[in-house]
Amino acid sequence: MSRQDTDRVSYEVKDRIARLTINRPEKLNALDHATMRAIDGVVAAAGEDPAVGILIVTGAGEKAFVAGADINELATQTPVEGAAYARAGQETFGRLEALDKPSIAAINGYALGGGLELALACTLRVASETARLGLPETSLAIIPGYGGTQRLSRLVGRSRALEMILTAEPIDAHEAHRIGLVNRVVPPGEIVVAAESMARTILSRGPVALRYAMKAVHGGLDAPQAQGLALEAVLFGLTCSTEDMREGTRAFLEKRKPSFRGR
Ligand code: COA
Repeated sequence: MSRQDTDRVSYEVKDRIARLTINRPEKLNALDHATMRAIDGVVAAAGEDPAVGILIVTGAGEKAFVAGADINELATQTPVEGAAYARAGQETFGRLEALDKPSIAAINGYALGGGLELALACTLRVASETARLGLPETSLAIIPGYGGTQRLSRLVGRSRALEMILTAEPIDAHEAHRIGLVNRVVPPGEIVVAAESMARTILSRGPVALRYAMKAVHGGLDAPQAQGLALEAVLFGLTCSTEDMREGTRAFLEKRKPSFRGR
């Protein structure tokens, strides 16, 4: 197990599962500059570390995943600073989304504003029954700036995204599940166990296939369908060049569990 903490986040890797915990519970894990820098560092570390197969992102304490960008820092920004601030946050969350390993947001409580945007940049989302999710920015007379207007509308559709953004009202975990914003809802005490169990299931699959599946889905959604299909065919072909593909198909035929090596 390896471990690395800053005063804003804790980060540990165990059994190929990396866990990033935003650790500022007294401020409901609000994202100030220092926290964003720490997240950026951890995302880079998880991306580079061959011992990491999947990343779980969660918040410290019972109450919040992340209650948004730090409003104290936001309040005094000039227009130029605001644009740079949004761009920097978008880049950090963009690097998280673009990791070639899956990530799971374990949403243990409030996921508001930048917190929901952080969860949206993860590959999958598991929420506690007590979680509340929303983009309250318009209640502060700003708009979501860390990717929320783009990723939420792509995930749940324009109409639902606009309702959440324009009303600024949070929704509960069951509603988030109903509209496809979160993949699973679990009792509060089970959130980490549920995320880890999902992580272990994913880790049992072919690592190269996981990478290419994510590339096909993400790349395809940003392109016309014909291009997405062409990308899928090329990546499918590439999976057929792997030792793991031989092992996976042979193991099925021999009625045993496959043992994948990531090549
Ligand atoms: N930025 C800075 N500080 C925040 C914060 C944020 N986004 N969200 C919560 N905090 C701080 C509070 O100011 C408070 O600090 P204090 O104890 O020094 O006064 C502490 O975290 C606890 O929050 P509090 O508001 O007292 O908890 P609550 O249970 O009454 O309400 C929320 C919880 C999540 C409903 C409320 O904190 C909230 O609305 N937060 C802002 C959400 C938001 O608009 N996010 C988008 C920002 S763009």
